[in-house]
Amino acid sequence: MRGGPFYVMKRSLFFFLFLSVPLSAADKPVDLVRYRQSVMKAMGSHMNAASLIVKKLVSDRSHLPGHAAAIRELGTGLAAYFPPGSGPDKVKTGAMMAIWQKLPEFRVAAEEFHGEAVKLAEVSKHGDAKAFDAQFARVGAACNSCHDRFRIQDAD
Ligand code: HEC
Repeated sequence: MRGGPFYVMKRSLFFFLFLSVPLSAADKPVDLVRYRQSVMKAMGSHMNAASLIVKKLVSDRSHLPGHAAAIRELGTGLAAYFPPGSGPDKVKTGAMMAIWQKLPEFRVAAEEFHGEAVKLAEVSKHGDAKAFDAQFARVGAACNSCHDRFRIQDAD
């Protein structure tokens, strides 16, 4: 069955596995910084939009599950976007050296944040406004808790 669809699939899987690892290891720090800042900004936009609803300045709550799901998805594995060599000693970034000096603490901050984001996405499905608003505040606090310790505040 050489050349059959199964062979082709196996071959492309091999190339995918073979190529994807070295390629991602070669991502330039400057591009990774741009990428993680864009992801952070996107999460910031979802937080800002949702906060207008939470503050009751916008009454239609139907987008809340979408904002919550986006934050949950974009907030997955954040620590991976901060590899060694992408700190302020090497590239222009709002990331503090403390990230690499206290890596376990940074990873915990990322995971704690993500845990809160997962809960927010879950709560958003049930239409309980009070529960959503309380969990939304916890997500915001988790963003700030990491920024307070690991982000240069006047970076932008
Ligand atoms: C685990 C730590 C951590 C968590 C959690 C976190 N951030 Fe960040 N954030 C950072 C760091 C570090 C930077 C600086 C990145 C850089 O400049 O390379 C940053 C940068 C930003 C920026 C500025 C991006 C830019 O254009 O320079 C915004 C906006 C932002 N975060 C929003 C958020 C929001 C909103 C959340 C929660 C929904 C969040 N962040 C959660 C660590 C975190």
